[in-house]
Amino acid sequence: MTQDQIRVKALLRWFATSARDLPWRCTSDPYAIWVSEIMLQQTQVKTVIPYWERWMKRFPGVEVLAATPMNDVLKLWEGLGYYSRARQLHKAAQIIAAEHAGVFPRDFNAVLALPGIGRYTAGAICSIAFNQPTPILDGNVIRVLTRVHGVGKSPKDKETNRHLWQLAGALVSIAGSCRTPARKVCSDFNQALMELGALVCTPRNPDCGKCPLRRNCHAHLNGRQHELPNLGPRPSVTLQRFAAFVIECDGHFLVRQRPDGVHNAQLWEFPNIEVTNPLTEREGGSTNTRSSKLDLLSGLSKECLGQSVRHLESFCTIKHTITRYRITIEVFRGELPRRCSMPGGAKWLRLVEMEKLPFPSAHRRILVRLHHGEHGMIEPKTGAN
Ligand code: ADE
Repeated sequence: MTQDQIRVKALLRWFATSARDLPWRCTSDPYAIWVSEIMLQQTQVKTVIPYWERWMKRFPGVEVLAATPMNDVLKLWEGLGYYSRARQLHKAAQIIAAEHAGVFPRDFNAVLALPGIGRYTAGAICSIAFNQPTPILDGNVIRVLTRVHGVGKSPKDKETNRHLWQLAGALVSIAGSCRTPARKVCSDFNQALMELGALVCTPRNPDCGKCPLRRNCHAHLNGRQHELPNLGPRPSVTLQRFAAFVIECDGHFLVRQRPDGVHNAQLWEFPNIEVTNPLTEREGGSTNTRSSKLDLLSGLSKECLGQSVRHLESFCTIKHTITRYRITIEVFRGELPRRCSMPGGAKWLRLVEMEKLPFPSAHRRILVRLHHGEHGMIEPKTGAN
């Protein structure tokens, strides 16, 4: 047996006894597997499970999803982040309904042609659902392969990336030609690679003692597990700061829908504007006087809402991290005497109406605080979360 044949067998044996019991592993429905793979991009398994279960209940197949209004799809996705994933799932479902008679395609290139599906996801769907020997390469698999094979160059380097795809392809082909009792060896093998990366071959402190590949792993045998993969320096953190406005009139609040083509497109939010400096004392310790701060706020509200709101009060501060962005939103609350029309299609809505709309997490947290305020529970004036 070759080294790779030994590795494939060892990994399949390990997977048979160590795989987590995840809900999308109880099906070979390509639609269900596709949804799980899209949700699992950038999101942890434990976060995805309840979302996947709700999604499969509400949209059990391609046709139902394709016929659902985008707003409802985004509402179910609310809190998972990276909302373009939901938009592309919806778009792809409509293409499958229109061009594939509602049947998920089996052909790798047809799968790859769908919106939101790249080489990794197409490989994952075709291998897991259809047991095809299509390779996968994501962060977990890169970690396993660079360590096992001692690949010291950056996996982002074009040639190295090609080499890693080749390694992944060779391994799943070996699995496909294995004579084992398992019915779905390509499916099991690719999931075993993902699982090893998630449970054992972790970024920090890999549990090499429990690894089925330890006798055939370059990094373990040479003590290099902490230096591989060679990912280079971390991208630097970018701080961003916004002022947001909770403006009330007659039990209605001002909210707006983000336009197409921007980050968080089509989601709803409280009007907000990027600022350079902290606005509240707790946040900044700036030397502005109280009246100059009020002037500043009033000017910002005019810029953001088309008219200045007087008597704005500090409501809360929301802190939020997304990839390399550390975002601080300072929220101010005020009133307007009339529900006048606002620029950019902003709407005056009651809390119950807002509940039906999708908000990004940070703005949903503002909404939750408003609810608490309404019911006389907690309403901190400021506070970091
Ligand atoms: N990460 C990406 N795909 C996955 C899957 N199918 N199961 C567990 N973790 C994953």
